[in-house]
Amino acid sequence: MVLGQNRIASRAPYDVIVLGAGAAGMMAARVARERARRVLIIDHNAEPGRKILISGGGRCNFTNLGTAPDRFISANPHFAKSALGRYAPQDFVALVEAHGIAWHEKTLGQLFCDGSAQQIVAMLLDECAGVDFALGHSVRDVGHSDAMFTVSHGERTDAAPALIIATGGPSIPKLGATSFAYDLARRFGLKVVEPRPALVPLTLSSADALFQALSGVATQVVTRAGRAAFREAALFTHRGLSGPAILQASSYWRHGEPVMVDFAPDAPPDWLATVKRARPRLSLKAALAETLPARLAEALAGRLGLAGQLGGQSDRALMDAARALKDWRFTPTGTEGFAKAEVTVGGISTDGLSSQTMMARKVPGLFAIGEAVDVTGWLGGYNFQWAWASGVAAGGAV
Ligand code: FDA
Repeated sequence: MVLGQNRIASRAPYDVIVLGAGAAGMMAARVARERARRVLIIDHNAEPGRKILISGGGRCNFTNLGTAPDRFISANPHFAKSALGRYAPQDFVALVEAHGIAWHEKTLGQLFCDGSAQQIVAMLLDECAGVDFALGHSVRDVGHSDAMFTVSHGERTDAAPALIIATGGPSIPKLGATSFAYDLARRFGLKVVEPRPALVPLTLSSADALFQALSGVATQVVTRAGRAAFREAALFTHRGLSGPAILQASSYWRHGEPVMVDFAPDAPPDWLATVKRARPRLSLKAALAETLPARLAEALAGRLGLAGQLGGQSDRALMDAARALKDWRFTPTGTEGFAKAEVTVGGISTDGLSSQTMMARKVPGLFAIGEAVDVTGWLGGYNFQWAWASGVAAGGAV
């Protein structure tokens, strides 16, 4: 039976039911189907892979060549190693190439489609030939007895000995994102690490109104957050801060903590004193404007409060100003929340899952993969790589 996007060939009874037709769910379904499992994938959206479609500005940043476990945030930083080690970015690139999809490296190891993210969804659907898709209906209930999982969805109830939770995290609800994975995991006795919006713009208080007035200004900075440092662009917005460097830092940020921004990443500590000796009549604002956008230079010089020519400042004051520019501390009031967050930090605790197979240790046959799990990648294709790798791990084990 084919119903719109639905592909129900009535292969029931199934060996595997996958909840969520996103990146991780479709990858797991594909691998399970390759292993001759009868697979049903269920999604409440009418079309699969909606986040893939809008990802990477419509071109899907589908992996990152720099993938390494330390580029993922998790309460257990070792958990992702096994799956990532067994399914590398090159494996996904080989799949993409086998489908004739042209790609390019944009920057920092980030691989994008030359054409459209639609190609990645089409590829996954093609790879899922033989998988039944039930789209457009919410999951009403999930039961478990006699080693079988039953899932009621729409007008149907299906059953299988394996159930894969791949319903992602709550980021961007308008795309169909929910906290369903966490509720279900809790029902099966799994713990959930507190979910927080990540890769999300930060908001500033009225004390930083000066910077909000710079809305639209972007500059290269280094942000420091936790043990990580990100050298990318920061963007001032009317609500606060955004741009890749800030989004990266947001994943590590906790309420009440400052975010450190280095506005002069390449400058030595005595650079302002050196400029003073060479050009004593230059103002601080003009000196800053040689490397920073003019409006930002003006705002920073105003905050530093060194009026007049550099020649009139002591070396010590200039050293202090240079130090402040390298370690500017913004204390955000919050984030723009799940409505604007690309991903979620936290999720189903890895404590209860096998890192080899993603199966719940205490509930044989139950798996959790992708963003639903407490593994969150940096910006730049890492989150899809985790979705593919964890999907392959579960699909190979069901
Ligand atoms: P995903 O969210 O993809 O899939 C979950 C599926 O479950 C969805 O189809 C949803 O409809 C379904 N679902 C949810 N609740 C349900 C319920 N109750 N019942 C039934 N179905 C349910 N990453 C990256 O690496 N490179 C990039 O370029 C981008 N770009 C990007 C842009 C934007 C705007 C966003 C919001 C996110 C990104 N990401 C990204 C992150 C990336 O999209 C994300 O990490 C993956 O899609 C996660 O894959 P999953 O399959 O785990 O969840």
